[in-house]
Amino acid sequence: MCGIFGYLQNNTVKDRQFILETLINGLSRLEYRGYDSAGVAFDDDQGKITIVKAKGKVKALEEMIFQSELDFDKDFENHFAISHTRWATHGEPSPRNSHPHRSDPTSQFVVVHNGIITNYKDLKMFLESKGFVFESETDTEVIVKLVKYVYDQEIAGGHKPTFSDVVEATMRQLEGAFALLFKSIHFPNQAVACRRGSPLLIGIKTRHKFNTDQIPVLYPNEVSSDKEYDYRKISFSARAQSFMNVGSAEASQNPRVEYFFASDASAIVEHTNRVIYLEDDDIASVQDGQLTIHRVKKIDGVSDNRAIKTLEMEIQQIMKGSFSTFMQKEIFEQPESVVNTMRGRVNFDNCEVTLGGIKAHIPTIRRARRLVFLACGTSYHSAVAVRALMEEMSEIPVQVELASDFIDRATPVFRDDVCFFISQSGETADTLITLAYCKERGALCVGVTNTVGSAISRQTHCGVHINAGPEIGVASTKAYTSQYLSLVMIALMLSEDRVSMQERRRTIIRDLKTLPEKIKKVLELDSKILELSKELAPKSSLLVMGRGYQHATCLEGALKIKELTYLHSEGILAGELKHGPLALVDYSLPIIFIATRDQHFVKCQNALEQVTARQGRPIIIVTEGDAAAVSKYSSSVLEVPTITDALQGILTVIPLQLLSYHIATEKGLNVDMPRNLAKSVTVA
Ligand code: F6R
Repeated sequence: MCGIFGYLQNNTVKDRQFILETLINGLSRLEYRGYDSAGVAFDDDQGKITIVKAKGKVKALEEMIFQSELDFDKDFENHFAISHTRWATHGEPSPRNSHPHRSDPTSQFVVVHNGIITNYKDLKMFLESKGFVFESETDTEVIVKLVKYVYDQEIAGGHKPTFSDVVEATMRQLEGAFALLFKSIHFPNQAVACRRGSPLLIGIKTRHKFNTDQIPVLYPNEVSSDKEYDYRKISFSARAQSFMNVGSAEASQNPRVEYFFASDASAIVEHTNRVIYLEDDDIASVQDGQLTIHRVKKIDGVSDNRAIKTLEMEIQQIMKGSFSTFMQKEIFEQPESVVNTMRGRVNFDNCEVTLGGIKAHIPTIRRARRLVFLACGTSYHSAVAVRALMEEMSEIPVQVELASDFIDRATPVFRDDVCFFISQSGETADTLITLAYCKERGALCVGVTNTVGSAISRQTHCGVHINAGPEIGVASTKAYTSQYLSLVMIALMLSEDRVSMQERRRTIIRDLKTLPEKIKKVLELDSKILELSKELAPKSSLLVMGRGYQHATCLEGALKIKELTYLHSEGILAGELKHGPLALVDYSLPIIFIATRDQHFVKCQNALEQVTARQGRPIIIVTEGDAAAVSKYSSSVLEVPTITDALQGILTVIPLQLLSYHIATEKGLNVDMPRNLAKSVTVA
């Protein structure tokens, strides 16, 4: 949902080519967040700002830049440049609506933005009344014009505000969610970054030794009276003297240092592994190489320090390696990613599961009146997949909810509820809104995310990282199987001291050990699935059916197919077949039926009879040894290894991941970046 990237160097000589390549590279890493258009802003040779924007992918921007007449050899000792890759929310994808946006035709201030400004119409009306002329249909443009308005007012009043003062005053007027990077000709080589509701982190690269691992956050000594500027009150904090420089954790006054500002760590890890995650309402500024972080006021529960953290991620994890797409790589990584999810947590010998992040809260979770699982899309399906096991093992009612619907219904939440927030990115706006909602109502909030340092992992009371490694392909694959597995591990922890559950626990834990090998076996179906994809690619619709534990696989498989191949696709609970969907079935409609060997197998056979009686010839996914039992109903059979019922969905979803991948490739579609989508949906 838009990616922003900025690069600042202080006392390190770099030529323009290097600076632009660094930006383009950063944007390419963030491109999975949105790819409708891209743009950069950097210094020209006369102290002005050049903006270059292109519709489409980062590649188009790169070509535009490097085919231009720019002087690429020009050296800069100090420089700050910003860039953006867009997922359109307000205004069609076009150069006009692309970021960076400027305050005026001379680009005194420029901004890049990830998020959404909900009060932009009011702000726009106000700014138009002050003579500002808007160039785009975006919500973002109001931000940069408001910055200029505030700056001009201050100068006219005889004041000389700092860059971060101006941004702070502007930020106070904004409603919605944002991560912002600002650059200005009035504050050359200075950077200001701020966030509320959208992610932003800062990478620090320096040869100096860090003399601290904490940056203290500054607060104003006193708040001056607000100044009336027609539009609400634009207030400045009196902090000129209090604005001590804490430096970039550096002793030196004028350090040789590079800063990387990005929406996520994948754009930073190849430069440095030392990062600071900004909190909501933080304003970070860099002047003369010194980083300062301040906030307008103290808020209970928000630390007064920002830790300099070490990224665990490796650069190889965000490269495609020998695979042609990230999605393919991520599907084939699943034998290892599930091991990483279980590593150090499952003791196969003692049949114990320990999730350090929630261990201390297990007694509270066991006492809960109900467990509520909140998520969107694929993450929601992982909760559907594990709901039955969770109820069985915990003996607590489990409610699984789509985050957006939960809020729309203003669902009652109680202090003795435990709410789980499942999110690969940890930044999904709908899920974050439900988190704030449940927290306010006193529920214990547990995060299940793949992204260390994400908003969900910071804002929940406790949680589990699924450790699937970075997922770059927009369609979620390995994160789904690791979310599924993490929820199974939570269920196992909750049943640890239930005598009646011990046999069941032992079976599941024994089978968890075999999971990686069994996934490898499923992946061997790849060439057979490739052949099937050729038959299915020309079709316009496809149904995926199953029941019990496989219902979630149907929903998830259908979602993968629609988002990647643009075929209409629906996941259907086989028990519902006769209540409507059967009307769709005829000889021509492609159907995938999951009929694995569990307590629902006989019912599945009955449903298959109903389908074949209407000339349906489904592709059937079965457990090993059952091909013969279903061959009379099928056009084709895919056998997956048998595993205990509660884990079977991890194996049955993989053929559907592969199928959606191959159909999309067969149709010549972009697998990693399906149209109209973005990896991290930071708008509600
Ligand atoms: C589909 C997909 C989406 C996400 C959903 C939630 O392949 O990836 O449906 O699952 O947008 O995202 P997270 O898990 O980041 O909260």
